[in-house]
Amino acid sequence: MEVVTTIEELRAALDLRRGKPLGSNKTGKIGFVPTMGFLHDGHASLMERAKRECDTVVLSIFVNPLQFGPNEDFDRYPRDEERDKAIARREGVDFIFMPDVQTMYPQRIRTTVSVSGVTEKLCGASRPGHFDGVATVVSKLFNIVQPDRAYFGMKDAQQVAVVEQMTKDLNMRVTIVPCPTLREADGLAMSSRNVYLSADERKQALVLSQALGFAEKWSAEAGEDSESVIRRVRNHIESAPSAVIDYVELLSYPSLTSTQEWSEAGITDDRMVLALAVKFGKTRLIDNRILPIN
Ligand code: PAJ
Repeated sequence: MEVVTTIEELRAALDLRRGKPLGSNKTGKIGFVPTMGFLHDGHASLMERAKRECDTVVLSIFVNPLQFGPNEDFDRYPRDEERDKAIARREGVDFIFMPDVQTMYPQRIRTTVSVSGVTEKLCGASRPGHFDGVATVVSKLFNIVQPDRAYFGMKDAQQVAVVEQMTKDLNMRVTIVPCPTLREADGLAMSSRNVYLSADERKQALVLSQALGFAEKWSAEAGEDSESVIRRVRNHIESAPSAVIDYVELLSYPSLTSTQEWSEAGITDDRMVLALAVKFGKTRLIDNRILPIN
């Protein structure tokens, strides 16, 4: 495994491998897993999938200032380079790209990628500018790595929708591979931010995955409309004394349209997403579940 910090070095190394099969069954494909580090098994599952499907796996670790709001946790985002390297090595990653902020943003950026529609609700509404920051850095990383396949977790279902929309709209030559959410044994979705939770908040945070599990049952029950599913989800979350709900919404996926708008707009989505964001103390957690349309 090589640790690379400059764009030139990474490009030169990847040019030697791109499209050049290493063995008889190989395709020479480059798989890419973009992350902000402080890796956990959720990230590892993306690397594992990339390793299975591609000859060369590139992992990026870059805490992207552009996607954090002024009062968010950019400065205290958890970091552990040595542990991250050990995990990447274990997963068979070929290159870790770890640029510093100066490398990614050597001058004030005057070009940003802004996806409309799918960015307007959920985290896009609560975190203004967040998805411009994500779309811009993901475009930059795609231009640097030029991957054949890029792996994203459905933990961030809206991010997947944004990246898919962007790659389609801009004819980017990359296949986006959405991957399932990995959870702790008790159901809490794995997240780098879980380390911020106190022991008590960690226990209370279980209501999120519980509520999503109940909702799957409720929404399958005949006569349970979306408002009542949302109301019951909210009630369950609020049974945790520290929980402060940012949003609980049921939208079609991936266009993220509400059922009211939906009938008018001729949407072809075949799934729904029940998405939530909830604060426990200072820590904002997100989770979601994809549900069939009934
Ligand atoms: P980060 O939060 O580090 O997540 C990196 C990738 O890991 C994302 O695709 C995310 O959805 C996925 N992931 C996180 N938790 C997961 C879990 N429990 N199960 C499966 N996958 C999980 O998302 C970002 O970084 C950034 O926005 C980034 C795309 C790197 C752009 O800066």
